[in-house]
Amino acid sequence: MTERVPIGSDHAGYDLKERLKAELEELGFEPVDVGTHSAESVDYSDYAKRVASEVANGSVARGVLMCGTGLGMSYTANRFPGVRAALAWTPEIAELSRRHNDANVLVLPARFIEPAQGIEILRRWLEAPFDGGRHERRVAKIEGDT
Ligand code: RB5
Repeated sequence: MTERVPIGSDHAGYDLKERLKAELEELGFEPVDVGTHSAESVDYSDYAKRVASEVANGSVARGVLMCGTGLGMSYTANRFPGVRAALAWTPEIAELSRRHNDANVLVLPARFIEPAQGIEILRRWLEAPFDGGRHERRVAKIEGDT
């Protein structure tokens, strides 16, 4: 079955979102565009909530967000239980966010990367597995008591 991947941005991330949406399709995913749908100014938190709530309730395994710095999207998404939103500005950080932190939301800083970098960051993030092992315990401690 084709994996649904919700993808959202504010105005600052709009152009990059359109590129990454096409890339997701090309890679065989089903991108679900939660907006925004133009370069008109909007509030990043509204779009972060749409993606993060789907990941938190388990209806999708992972999602993608972008805004100017990636910070507002990260702050908002990480308030949802079970969401581990990783702000990645290089492919290496994206890969490590999967391998070590089992990130389930990728956040990109659209105003600080070129579109080609964004595509590479997305690809590496989608491909990388969670390494488990010692990382499993650390990730469990993020939301657990011990
Ligand atoms: C919008 O100007 C900008 O504040 C937003 O895209 C983001 O960088 C917020 O964290």
